Amino acid sequence: MCGIFAYLNYHVPRTRREILEVLIKGLHRLEYRGYDSAGVGIDGGNSKEWESNSKSIHLIKQSGKVNALDEEIHRQQDVDLDVEFDVHLGIAHTRWATHGAPSPVNSHPQRSDKNNEFIVIHNGIITNYKDLKKFLESKGYEFESETDTETIAKLLKYMYDNRESDITFATLVEQVTQQLEGAFVLVFKSVHYPGETVGSRRGGPLLIGVRSDHKLSTDHIPILYRSSGKDKKSCSTLPRLDQDTCLFPVEEKAVEYYFASDASAVIEHTNQVIFLEDDDIAAVSDGRLSIHRIKRTAGDHPARAIQTLQMELQQIMKGNFSSFMQKEIFEQPESVVNTMRGRVNFENNTVTLGGLKDHIKEIQRCRRLILIACGTSYHAGVATRQVLEELTELPVMVELASDFLDRNTPVFRDDVCFFISQSGETADSLLALRYCKERGALTVGITNTVGSSISRETDCGVHINAGPEIGVASTKAYTSQFVALIMFALLMCDDRISVQPRRREIIQGLKVLPDLIKEVLSLDDEIQKLATELYQQKSVLIMGRGYHYATCLEGALKIKEITYMHSEGILAGELKHGPLALVDKLMPVIMIIMRDHTYNKCQNALQQVVARQGRPIVICDTEDYETINSSSRTIKVPHCLDCLQGILCVIPLQLLSFHLAVLRGFDVDCPRNLAKSVTVE
Ligand code: F6R
Repeated sequence: MCGIFAYLNYHVPRTRREILEVLIKGLHRLEYRGYDSAGVGIDGGNSKEWESNSKSIHLIKQSGKVNALDEEIHRQQDVDLDVEFDVHLGIAHTRWATHGAPSPVNSHPQRSDKNNEFIVIHNGIITNYKDLKKFLESKGYEFESETDTETIAKLLKYMYDNRESDITFATLVEQVTQQLEGAFVLVFKSVHYPGETVGSRRGGPLLIGVRSDHKLSTDHIPILYRSSGKDKKSCSTLPRLDQDTCLFPVEEKAVEYYFASDASAVIEHTNQVIFLEDDDIAAVSDGRLSIHRIKRTAGDHPARAIQTLQMELQQIMKGNFSSFMQKEIFEQPESVVNTMRGRVNFENNTVTLGGLKDHIKEIQRCRRLILIACGTSYHAGVATRQVLEELTELPVMVELASDFLDRNTPVFRDDVCFFISQSGETADSLLALRYCKERGALTVGITNTVGSSISRETDCGVHINAGPEIGVASTKAYTSQFVALIMFALLMCDDRISVQPRRREIIQGLKVLPDLIKEVLSLDDEIQKLATELYQQKSVLIMGRGYHYATCLEGALKIKEITYMHSEGILAGELKHGPLALVDKLMPVIMIIMRDHTYNKCQNALQQVVARQGRPIVICDTEDYETINSSSRTIKVPHCLDCLQGILCVIPLQLLSFHLAVLRGFDVDCPRNLAKSVTVE
C-alpha cells in the first residue's frame, strides 16, 4: 500500500545531499507500492555541528510521484545540501492514500506537533484511530491532517510528555503500539532521540539492511523479552543492551542501517538483511540494533537471523524496456525455467518440491484442496483447477480471499489450503491464511517473495522464483504460479500408475514451454498493430471456456487495470444466458478457441457471435485451418498440451494490454488507484 524507507548512518560521514539521494532512491524502488504523494524527514539546521542540527527536524512533502518530491527538495532555499553528518537518521515514505486525499499535509511523515518533536511513517490502517484521536483532542491536541497516522505521532508525544522517568525510544514506541489496532508498519524519528530510530510491524512487511566494512558481532539477534510485564512500573524501560542482545560491527562502530518495506530498496546497499516479525520492535541506539518483544509466546523463534539476499540489482532494473511490465512479459521464457529449475527432471519425468517434502504425504491424504488468492493470483488457481482435479482426484475449490472470509467458509482439519500470492503480503489472503490455520487446516504458500508474511506463516510451500515483479500489473508471476501449481499436481500423483502417461506428457510439455513462449513473444509487432486499431474503443469482451476461462478473466483484468478500458472475461458457455446481448458489429470481441475438449463448443460460440454481426479476433492454434479460414482476424499461437496452453494464450493479451495502455498515453507500471502490494483489507 505504501512504501517505507529509512536510512541511518552511524559514524559514516555523509552530506545531506548524499543522505537525501539514498532516501529518494529507496523511495523510487518502492514506488510500485504507492505513488500518490511522498515525503522525507531529516535533521534540520545548517550548522556544521551535528548536535545543533539534530535539535530540529525538517519535513519535505509533496503530492504526486517521488520525482515531484525530489524536485521539491531541490527547490527548498533553506536547506544546505553540503552540511555533513557523522550520525543521521532520515525517514521517507511513498503513499497510496487510504485516509485523506493525496496532499502534502496528508503525506508522511506525520508529526506530533508544529515543532516536529516526533515524526512517523506508516504503512497500513489504524482501525481505532478515531477513539485515539478523540482522546488526544480531549487533551488539547490539534490535528492538521485527515490521516489515521497523525494520531500515532501525537500519541507518542503524549506518552513522552507524561513519562514518569527516563524512557528509551524503544519503550516509548512499544507503549504506543500496544494502543494501536489494525495493521501497521511504522518507523519513527524524534528530536528527543537524535541519531536513533525505532521500527515496528503488525500485518505488513518490514526488513532491515545492515552495512558495515567491519565484521558484525553476530549472525543473528536474540530477541529481548520484557520481564513478566505484570508490574508496569518495573518495566517502564527495556533491559539494558549488551553485546549478546544487539548487533553492531565488532572492530569499530561504523555502520549503516536501512529500514524498508522490501528488499528491492536495500539491495544496492547491502545484501545482509533481517526480516522482522509481527510485533517486533527494532531499535537502533548508539549504532546498535536490538529487537524487542513484550513476551515470548509458544512457537516464537527467540532470535532473528541475518540473512544474505541472493537478489541482484540487475534483476530489478528495467534494462532496455520502456516499462517494468514490458520487461516482465519478455522475461517469461526465463522466469518459467526458474520456477522449474532443480525441480522438474525431464529425463526421468520426476518432480521434487523441497518446500513440500515433509508434508506431501499428509496432503495426499487430505479431503479437499482450497486455493485462496486475490486478482491475478486467483486466476492462476482458476487456470489450474481442472488439472489439479484430474491428477489429484480431489475436490478443488478456488476462492477469492475476501469472499472466502465474508462467507465464513467452513474449513476442516483435513483440508489443505493454498495461498497464492506474488507479494506474499496481500492482506485478504493473509487473513484467510490465519482463518484456515485457526481451524487446523494444513496451509501451503505459493509466493514469489522469500521472507514474505505468507511464506513465513504457512506450514510449507513453493517459491515460484519468478524474480522481482515491479510492474503493478502482474504478468510473469501469473505464468510462474501456473507452472508451480502444475508441478504440485504432478507431485501429488507421482506414484499412481494409471496417470503415468498423462504425467509424462505434461512434464514433456513443460520442457518445451520456454521455447513456445519465445514464439508467442515474437507476435509482439502484430499485436501492437492490433492495438492501434483498438485503442480508441471503450470496451473489449474476451470469451473462452474450459482451460481458457481463466485466460479470459486474466486478459480482461490486464486490460482494465492499465488501459482503463472496460473489459470483461466471459465464459463462452454462458453467452446465451446474457452476455450475447452485448454483441453487435461495433463491440470488439476477442475469442480464445483451442483444439482441446471444448473445441466444438467454442466453434458454436463463434458462430453465435458472428450471427450477431460480431467480427471477433480469434486467438487460435497455428495449425487450426478451420478457424483460421472462417475468421476475419486471428492471432495464431503455437500448439502445446491442453492444460498448459493457457500459459501461451495469456501472453498475447498481456502484450495487447501493454500496447493499448501505451497508445492511450498511460503510465503502464503505475496505473491509477492501484498499488502493487495491497496490505489492507
Ligand atoms: C493484477 C494484480 C493484482 C494482484 C492481487 C494479488 O495485475 O497484480 O490483481 O494479483 O492484488 O496480489 P498478490 O499476488 O501479491 O497476492
